[in-house]
Amino acid sequence: MNTGRLTQDVETLACAANGRAPVEASTASTREEPLSNGTTVVKIGGSTLGSHDTTLEDLVALQREGRTAVVVHGGGKVISEWMEKQGVKPKFVRGLRVTDEQSLDIAVAVLTGLINKTLVASLAAAGGKAMGLSGADGGMIRGVVKDPELGLVGTVTGVDPEPIHAVMRAGYIPVIAPVAVYGLTDSSQTTLLNINADTAAGEVAAAIGAERLVFLTDVEGVYDNSRRVIPRLTERQARGLIGSSVIGGGMIPKLEACLTSLSGGSVAHIVDGRLTRALTETLNGKATGTRIG
Ligand SMILES: Nc1ncnc2c1ncn2[C@@H]1O[C@H](COP(=O)(O)OP(=O)(O)OP(=O)(O)O)[C@@H](O)[C@H]1O
Ligand SMILES: [Mg+2]
Repeated sequence: MNTGRLTQDVETLACAANGRAPVEASTASTREEPLSNGTTVVKIGGSTLGSHDTTLEDLVALQREGRTAVVVHGGGKVISEWMEKQGVKPKFVRGLRVTDEQSLDIAVAVLTGLINKTLVASLAAAGGKAMGLSGADGGMIRGVVKDPELGLVGTVTGVDPEPIHAVMRAGYIPVIAPVAVYGLTDSSQTTLLNINADTAAGEVAAAIGAERLVFLTDVEGVYDNSRRVIPRLTERQARGLIGSSVIGGGMIPKLEACLTSLSGGSVAHIVDGRLTRALTETLNGKATGTRIG
């Protein structure tokens, strides 16, 4: 598949909507600030979609301006709530959660159903046009089991950008739930895998050649040892931080995903999604949170 041409198509469409001349796809990721003309992948963390959050309004405003965005969402907290409701006790190996078949069923139902459709409906209610997808749709995200001891959790092995481009070309914001398909070539073996939403966002950004990847999370950015926000990290610095004691928990897959997106030519940002207009300000070049790359 000619992904370069597809990226160019999307770029041309976005520019046409803005009445601007299209920029050559090969130079799209190297333009100077503000880098707001290309596609932005936005990862929405389960923790940030609260009452003061303006992310959905920001996304609709972007769409009205003819700027293209792709949403990837998480949902860990809601999955845990539903597991509790269903009486499924979480199991852990080496401190990591194990996804057995019952847990996977709940994760898939909650991510691709409840959370995905709620986001799509909320975007529509805010005046936007969005369409829900999961990594299984169109065979978009492929994966393999990460560690058999952890069960049905996947490592991403490939992303087909075509389903995302098709939805964008039709004028919708793709809203992607993080599941992967495993064993697509042998239908008797096909199964779904739960994947980390940050990882999915990084892989999607790299696959579509996004200009930016923005993580909206529940901290102001990446903190240093003294809990001061680090405004800017090079790829090398980010790599160094991942192996250090400064970074822990949910920040590790985020920084790893930033590195994945950088390899595809994106600039990545980790910003406080609880702040009003966090996404808009980031895209308008305001210094918010941590910029990587
Ligand atoms: N150096 C660091 N700087 C900032 N946050 C850090 C750091 N090290 C660890 N963290 C943790 O990472 C968390 C952000 O990741 P987390 O996975 O909790 O959020 P999310 O991915 O936005 O939401 P969700 O996983 O619910 O979808 C912060 O709340 C913080 O506790
Ligand atoms: Mg997380």
